[in-house]
Amino acid sequence: MPRIIIMGPQGAGKGTQAAKLEEETGATHIETGDLVREEINQGTELGQQIQEYNERGELVPDEIIIDMTKPYLDQNDSWILDGFPRNKEQAEELDKMLDEINEELDKVIVLEAPDEDLVERLSGRRQSEATGEIYHIEHDPPPEEGSEEDPGPFVQREDDTEEAIRNRLETYHEETDPLKEYYEEKGVLVTVDASQDIDEVTNDVLEAVGEKEEEEKGLIDKAKDKLQGE
Ligand code: AP5
Repeated sequence: MPRIIIMGPQGAGKGTQAAKLEEETGATHIETGDLVREEINQGTELGQQIQEYNERGELVPDEIIIDMTKPYLDQNDSWILDGFPRNKEQAEELDKMLDEINEELDKVIVLEAPDEDLVERLSGRRQSEATGEIYHIEHDPPPEEGSEEDPGPFVQREDDTEEAIRNRLETYHEETDPLKEYYEEKGVLVTVDASQDIDEVTNDVLEAVGEKEEEEKGLIDKAKDKLQGE
């Protein structure tokens, strides 16, 4: 069962691809951005404390995000971490947590796409209030209103304003980009071209984590069994 980090700038498709990986591998999708938004929506004291960081597109302080993420890592043997770590301090803390529970990272997948594409993607992003599923008004349109599949209203995130998006991208390049070197040295880094269509990106991501080989091996084994049975 895999332990994967999915990294990349805002709008590269981390949430989109992590959901597909969760489906294929059965590993739990842990999304720190979602944990932050949940806390804010519930109006807790912590939520009020972190709301401004989120709206401005700034990182929430390390000690807070680490405390929020740790229980999910403890509870799950296999996971896809989306949005964590985002700087060297968080990466080192994650290493410590993994050491404590005797676990290792299998892969770090970096989704790369040019900044201009990302601003366009985030401005068109919509999320279903009922299912949490992510859509894009053009690249991955939500089900038609009133159709059988229509899950009800769709919302646009508070931090998907152009100003906050540009702020988030700047922070990413300053603080998160250097982690590529950190994980390259550990020999677990794989880069995927995220400027392709969603399905092509999924294909490359599954190949990167070895799921494609598993799927193909399964098909070959089935074909062999069939031939032997004839
Ligand atoms: P978070 O929710 O993680 O936001 P983010 O990093 O800004 O990432 P996004 O969710 O915006 O992008 P994504 O890559 O998941 O894109 P998606 O799949 O939706 O974090 C929010 C906030 O929480 C942070 O700003 C910070 O305050 C706080 N926080 C979280 N983690 C933290 C941490 N570790 N430390 C400190 N603070 C933290 O795709 C985007 C759109 O593009 C969608 O509409 C999708 O349909 C479309 N799309 C996807 N792929 C493609 C494609 N290949 N072609 C065309 N369209 C595509």
